[in-house]
Amino acid sequence: MLPLFIRSIKFLIGATFVGVLAWALLWTVVDTVQNPPAETAEEAMHHHPKELDLPSNGVFGHFTATEESTRQLQRGFLVYEKVCASCHSLNLVSFRDLQQLGYNEAEVKKIAKDWAVKQPVQDPKAGTWGERDNLPSDRFPKVYYPGTGTPPDLSLMTKARHDGAAYVYSLLTGYDEKPSAEALKKFPEFAKTPDGMHFNPYFANLNIAMPPPLTGDDQVTYSDGTRATKDQMAKDVAAFLVWTAEPTLQRRHSAGLAVVLFLLIATGLAYGAYLTVWRGVKH
Ligand code: HEC
Repeated sequence: MLPLFIRSIKFLIGATFVGVLAWALLWTVVDTVQNPPAETAEEAMHHHPKELDLPSNGVFGHFTATEESTRQLQRGFLVYEKVCASCHSLNLVSFRDLQQLGYNEAEVKKIAKDWAVKQPVQDPKAGTWGERDNLPSDRFPKVYYPGTGTPPDLSLMTKARHDGAAYVYSLLTGYDEKPSAEALKKFPEFAKTPDGMHFNPYFANLNIAMPPPLTGDDQVTYSDGTRATKDQMAKDVAAFLVWTAEPTLQRRHSAGLAVVLFLLIATGLAYGAYLTVWRGVKH
């Protein structure tokens, strides 16, 4: 047993540490209450994504299990083709992958061949650059964009942002929302958006370099009769971008279901075997 003297020193050292920590904590709390941190423009004006209900949401989410979910992805692809592809690439998705969305080989070939943005090719001898039509094996090509900012590749965008699909949907439909009068009083610099920028309360920086891509209803014409409202186009292209980020979701979910079924059957069999083995044994 340690002498009482040493034990009391140990106790004193410990108590001093706890005391200093408690004192520091107390003062931090008092200081925060007396001088609360100033509100930032982001806190005052940033919006969380709106709700978006897609067939691919949730544990049993799917992409092309129903006719309507397949049609939605085809509509979303059309919006990407007609609106977004002039600025954004999909460098993890090839034209051939569209077969998963119900296009046959000939259709994919034609989509690739007619694609407005071509593949750059370099002449091996002269070293000069030219271009050629896309092939089904090509990825959706990158665009030279002369405007402000750099359009990011969209392949994984719904994975890269929190609440990905809902975020894309909200961003595309969020350009009409202006800062409130109250927020403008606190942050008057937001009354005028810098040149080449656009106010969007869903974008983290509040001012985004992307000009509003969806400007009004009927910007594209859907072949399935769905009315191409701005809201509908934004939803459909968000659904499409969930698929580009996760083209194997369908397969993974089917595999998961198969595993669950297998386990259920195996459990049933094991229980049956247990009953058989112990039948007739007296307890
Ligand atoms: C005229 C060119 C242009 C078109 C058309 C366009 N974008 Fe963009 N996009 C941009 C630029 C530039 C940025 C970078 C913005 C920035 O960082 O301020 C961007 C950024 C984005 C972002 C990323 C935002 C973030 O959180 O970083 C998403 C998502 C996006 N665009 C989706 C789309 C979709 C979907 C379409 C089609 C409906 C589309 N864009 C059409 C130019 C364009």
